[in-house]
Amino acid sequence: MASAVRILLAEHESLGGVVRALHGYVEPLRAGLAKPSPTVFATVFSYIETFADRFHHPKEDEFLFSALRGRTDRADAVLLGLQHEHAAGPEELVSLREALARTQGGDPAAIAAFADQLEGYARAQAEHIRVENRFVIPLAKEVLLPSDWERIDQAFREHRDPFFGPGADGTVRDLLATESHWSRRAPGAGI
Ligand SMILES: [Fe+2]
Ligand SMILES: [Fe+2]
Repeated sequence: MASAVRILLAEHESLGGVVRALHGYVEPLRAGLAKPSPTVFATVFSYIETFADRFHHPKEDEFLFSALRGRTDRADAVLLGLQHEHAAGPEELVSLREALARTQGGDPAAIAAFADQLEGYARAQAEHIRVENRFVIPLAKEVLLPSDWERIDQAFREHRDPFFGPGADGTVRDLLATESHWSRRAPGAGI
């Protein structure tokens, strides 16, 4: 398998784990079993901002998607949708941070609104990853040539996950541990 594909799938695993962790908070927040910790959520949002929005998505746009467009038009509509989602990512995080800030007085309506927004965000991100894994990557394996992969592999090898690679950030791992705690207590709460 091309190393870009391995790296991409591993990055999706990491992102998917964070997204599931976020989703795991939705029901506990609604039930009043969890408080919207500004430290935990701020750390996770900056992980997504740094890793996904500034690093993972631009690599997909610039190397994988553009190479695919050069070899086939079968993915054009899907790629356009995915790129719109990449472009919308930073603004969604701004909006999530604002919703998080509104919860800090303990207002139940603000917490419910944050939980709703978190759920929508987590579901959309999970679907984004699903489309890339199930449609884009298989199509890329089918149509891209070795010369395309050389360029893509190099781009993907140059940067690695700053949180889940060596020196992984403890707070994101803590959040993931917390998510499995909630999942055990509230089965079916995950995506
Ligand atoms: Fe993407
Ligand atoms: Fe992706």
